[in-house]
Amino acid sequence: MSQRTLVLLKPDATRRGLIGEIVGRIERKANWTIEALELRTLGREVLEQHYAEHVGKPFYEPLMQFMSSGPVVALVVEGERVIEGVRALAGPTDPISAAPGSIRGDFGTITRENLIHASDSEESAQREIKIFFPGLA
Ligand code: PPS
Repeated sequence: MSQRTLVLLKPDATRRGLIGEIVGRIERKANWTIEALELRTLGREVLEQHYAEHVGKPFYEPLMQFMSSGPVVALVVEGERVIEGVRALAGPTDPISAAPGSIRGDFGTITRENLIHASDSEESAQREIKIFFPGLA
């Protein structure tokens, strides 16, 4: 089943020069296509929309601070089971428990600076693509 997902390469990925490495892992996956890709620094308004479900959680403010601390790369990737697939490439939120071979397992440091965001469902993907690339939705 072909799907679309919204991926953000977080400010630690741009700071550490890992954009090419991470985009390369996504690109090398057969039958996935990058439909949009843009470097941008996120303002509070966009982040409030994107992370609306996490308002009030203890990590909300640190996450907002971190995500606005430098440019991110936003991508829309299309392909077969791409929502599940990019999350598998990323590995779990906590880099310590992420397996070697996953992006967070290979390059992750701490939970906050975990390099990549990827939509977790079709519903989230649709909502998030509309926030970042309204022309595509
Ligand atoms: S939840 O409550 O299960 O939905 O949380 P989770 O999916 O693990 O994480 C949601 C996003 O919050 C980020 N996160 C954090 N940021 C900063 N500090 C701490 N301690 C922290 N814990 C979780 C996590 O990376 C997720 O961000 P995205 O961008 O969705 O990957």
